Amino acid sequence: MDLFDGEDHGARVALSDGAWVLRGFARDPAEAVLAEIAGIASAAAPRHLLVPGGKRMSVAMTNAGSLGWVSDTRGYRYEACDPQSGQPWPEIGPTMMSLARAAADSAGYAQFAPDACLCNFYEPGARMSLHRDFDEGDLSAPIVSISLGLPATFLWGGHARADRARRIRLAHGDVVVWGGASRLVYHGVAPLADGEHPATGRMRYNLTFRKAR
Ligand code: SIN
Ligand code: FE2
Repeated sequence: MDLFDGEDHGARVALSDGAWVLRGFARDPAEAVLAEIAGIASAAAPRHLLVPGGKRMSVAMTNAGSLGWVSDTRGYRYEACDPQSGQPWPEIGPTMMSLARAAADSAGYAQFAPDACLCNFYEPGARMSLHRDFDEGDLSAPIVSISLGLPATFLWGGHARADRARRIRLAHGDVVVWGGASRLVYHGVAPLADGEHPATGRMRYNLTFRKAR
């Protein structure tokens, strides 16, 4: 038995107005998506970015697409080239791209055309504090988030940072889509519990697709 296989595969759970968890939506193509992530990581190595306050993020990040999200002591922004190499970011893989579009479609956001994919690499203990995805030029497009590997506790808050956050378990193959009235909801990830996943070992991968321009 695969302990990481959710029994609710195929379920669609409403988080808030315009926000959905699509259980297991990415499970079947997961292997192909993981291969695409490996290709992206070999072209643009994941790194621990500094936040404007100077702290190093516990999640390692890289990007695919015509724009990539970066952070340093000067602030957050999207850039067309990887500051580490000076080269354009690698392309978004075809399997992950069609999956992201299908997930958006199934959550009611037709014609999603992301130009940026932030690739997050979580080792045990890595976390992401509550934040809003606010740096995109097109806030009418949703965010599509694909989770692979070790399960995480996703924090789903409200429109104010102090709003109480719900704790949602995200397992291998789960996809979250948020847009519309929920596009600027505060969200984050609790420190990743240690474990061993059959597909990824001691790692969680998260991809967020955005329309940055
Ligand atoms: C993010 O908000 O960029 C990441 C969310 C996640 O890792 O599930
Ligand atoms: Fe985010």
